[in-house]
Amino acid sequence: MCGIVGYIGTQHNPKEVLLEGLKKLEYRGYDSAGIAWIENNRTHIVKCKGKISELEKHVATINIQGTIALGHTRWATHGKPSTINAHPHQVGDVTVVHNGIVENFSALKTELEAKGYQFKSETDTEVIACLIKNELETASSFENAVLCAVKQMNGSYAIAVMSERKPGTLVAVKKASPLVLGLGKKECFLASDIPALLKFTNQVVYLEDYELASITENRVSYYDKNGTAISKQVHKITWTAQMAEKGGFEHFMLKEIFEQPQAIIHTLSGKLSPNQDAVELPIHNDFFKNTTNIYLVACGTAWHASLVGKYLIEKIARRRVEVDLASEFRYRHPILSKNDVVIVTSQSGETADSLAALQLAKEKGAKTLAICNVKESSIARLADEVLYTEAGPEIGVASTKAFTTQLLIFNLLALYLENTPQKEKILNLTRLPFFMEQVLHQAEEIKKIATKHYKKIAALYMGRDILYPIALEGALKLKEISYIHAHGYPAGEMKHGPIALVDSNLPVIALIPDDDFFDKMMSNIEEVRAREGIVIAFSQRPIPMAHHNIILPLTPWHLNPFLFALPMQLLAYYMARCKGTDIDQPKNLAKSVTVE
Ligand code: M6R
Repeated sequence: MCGIVGYIGTQHNPKEVLLEGLKKLEYRGYDSAGIAWIENNRTHIVKCKGKISELEKHVATINIQGTIALGHTRWATHGKPSTINAHPHQVGDVTVVHNGIVENFSALKTELEAKGYQFKSETDTEVIACLIKNELETASSFENAVLCAVKQMNGSYAIAVMSERKPGTLVAVKKASPLVLGLGKKECFLASDIPALLKFTNQVVYLEDYELASITENRVSYYDKNGTAISKQVHKITWTAQMAEKGGFEHFMLKEIFEQPQAIIHTLSGKLSPNQDAVELPIHNDFFKNTTNIYLVACGTAWHASLVGKYLIEKIARRRVEVDLASEFRYRHPILSKNDVVIVTSQSGETADSLAALQLAKEKGAKTLAICNVKESSIARLADEVLYTEAGPEIGVASTKAFTTQLLIFNLLALYLENTPQKEKILNLTRLPFFMEQVLHQAEEIKKIATKHYKKIAALYMGRDILYPIALEGALKLKEISYIHAHGYPAGEMKHGPIALVDSNLPVIALIPDDDFFDKMMSNIEEVRAREGIVIAFSQRPIPMAHHNIILPLTPWHLNPFLFALPMQLLAYYMARCKGTDIDQPKNLAKSVTVE
């Protein structure tokens, strides 16, 4: 979704800060980009449809002399991708960039039109600029004008504003969309996410909902929604700028796939007892005491991790677990009480539906736990307790290392809840990175399969038990980045519909662990073969009847989701690479889905 970058100061060239920052936010998904700056009390705006490389061409010969500037990448919500709809939006002396959706923008627009304002774009953002401009005519200060304007808005927003009336001040305010400030010496940065700031500073301040920051070159003042001054904590970021670079890989996704053994090691670190016979989680000892129901709530890949979590917690700890998509949970009037635990899983910690589900759980008095990758993200801060996946920055839109580290957290939670000595399972987890390396060594074999089948128009994934969610995840990965239609199914359901699709053009990806379901999976494959389907088998012992067979290490059942997930990621990656799609920023998708 949209990305915001802001700069005020004289230590860096504003154009470089904005372009550098916007490139770091490209992963969020966007369709147009723009920058604005004030120079000699006049606002200048350059914006265009398309990639940042297009914007770079437009500003190549411009030498910005000003010290205050805003940049933006837009992911279209109101109005098609176009230069006119791209941000920044200027109304009079006021210029705004915005991430989020103003739900009542149409009513606000009508009111403003009645006051004589005219609009150039189809966006809700121009309405925000207009509201602020209107308030500025009577407000006691720039900051108050912004506060009065946002009070009239419903929906979500992260906004950065500048005005020719106060050319030394940048004002930022947010609700349900992320915004972080980076503090430097005699300069200040603003962005939707940390990677945009990391090259310049590691001292950051996270804005909370309804808080406003008034930023000058030398000082930042913070206010609550009533305009009362507040103080904020400065956090030091431990990620380095290099961690958010491709490091020699062709795509972030590939780099992140290969980083998974390390991500597992980092996530495991500090969560085991000294002699490695118990799981020690950084949550309150009584957190799960008297728990009746456990709800796992998430979106997309994090929902698939939660489905695996259900199998793990129910099988290992024998606790009843329900799994919900956040977009359903938030509207289905769930029956929750103070003895229920709601666990919200999110890589970004900013997903609008997951955040709303968490808010609902808190309102209903349930205990809440977040599993997040991004430190101090909205979900991490709102939940009663948080368990971090230590995957490092995940830039590729297709989630990979965040997924497997989420699987690890669910393994740890299941063992934590089991409450009996678990030395053997813990030992298995410590060996997991080694097994994962073995699977990653098969990348070239998987690439050969992709080379043969990337022109197919559809694919079916099937698995049973704890690998059923991995079949769903494999299909999601393929869809997202290769645009090949793919469906994940529990293998036992094939006969109830999907088998009608099987013919000699359909690859069927079968996940076949060497477990109690082996014979049942073999019968499912027979059925596919009988209808001339192409069987691509990932198994732990040879499957002679498969057209392609990748053999994975034989591991204890609770490690299987990890080992079968890796080849699903690689297969999707190589299929997309053969097709030549934009793997790290697939069309229509955003990394952080901050609108509903
Ligand atoms: O940041 P989150 O984990 O909350 O994101 C949830 C989904 O949007 C995300 O997993 C999405 O499905 C990914 N692009 C999958 O690869």
